[in-house]
Amino acid sequence: MSELKIENLTVEVEGKVILRNVNLSVKQGEIHALMGPNGSGKTSLSLAIMGHQKYKIREGRILLDGEDITNLEPNEKVKRGLFLAFQNPVEIDSIKLSTLLVAEYNAFYGERTTPLEVLNYVKSSVKNVGLTESILNRGVFQGFSGGEKKRIEMAQMLLLKPKISILDEPDSGVDVDGLKIIADAINKLKVENNTGYIIITHYRRILDYVNPDLVHVLNKGTVVASGGKELARLIDEKGYEAVIKN
Ligand SMILES: Nc1ncnc2c1ncn2[C@@H]1O[C@H](COP(=O)(O)OP(=O)(O)OP(=O)(O)O)[C@@H](O)[C@H]1O
Ligand SMILES: [Mg+2]
Repeated sequence: MSELKIENLTVEVEGKVILRNVNLSVKQGEIHALMGPNGSGKTSLSLAIMGHQKYKIREGRILLDGEDITNLEPNEKVKRGLFLAFQNPVEIDSIKLSTLLVAEYNAFYGERTTPLEVLNYVKSSVKNVGLTESILNRGVFQGFSGGEKKRIEMAQMLLLKPKISILDEPDSGVDVDGLKIIADAINKLKVENNTGYIIITHYRRILDYVNPDLVHVLNKGTVVASGGKELARLIDEKGYEAVIKN
């Protein structure tokens, strides 16, 4: 059984400490929600876990299945089964979306499959999130609407079938139907692949669909509360004030 363990993580960016002594442990098949006010460090935590070079780990470590992966390159982490869907995916006009997805698939699975089969997997992953194949012929995220970007990130996840998936606001800018599609993708992989999740969100709505085992609240770079779904309900009704004591 896979487990992502974040132990005592302290992270610095541009000479400033933005995360302090964060502990978090996610097993396969579990869904953890990560909430917290704007600027509390949620995105920084996800980027630090994946190994973004700007986010310097000053203390603590990251373990996947007992292996210390703290200082591995991002692509090595992906190969071991970690996945991150970005809050704001970057546009790369010069690469076709289909080329990117095929390359990612091959890098992950080591070209075990024929090119035609891979292309079919890529096409079906896109259809699975309610988009048409023609979007694959466009540049990566080029001119994609906010909701389309979020859906493509889910398609990427469905293709790679990670052990542990970190989703940074998968619900932001997504319409009601899109929210259902995204929640379905999350639940599908949980059931079929036993994927474990850290889902960063500001809203209770997505959590009504995916049913988190635990909800954590980050404030000023520190986890200040952990609890069940009722924590998300409390935040929704009363604001962060209700769970963050200064
Ligand atoms: N590359 C960077 N350079 C300078 N400051 C940064 C950088 N990345 C993050 N920060 C700062 O770290 C703090 C945490 O930012 P982060 O993006 O992690 O917040 P967040 O919890 O994801 O917020 P939101 O809910 O708005 O997405 C902020 O004050 C932000 O300005
Ligand atoms: Mg963020």
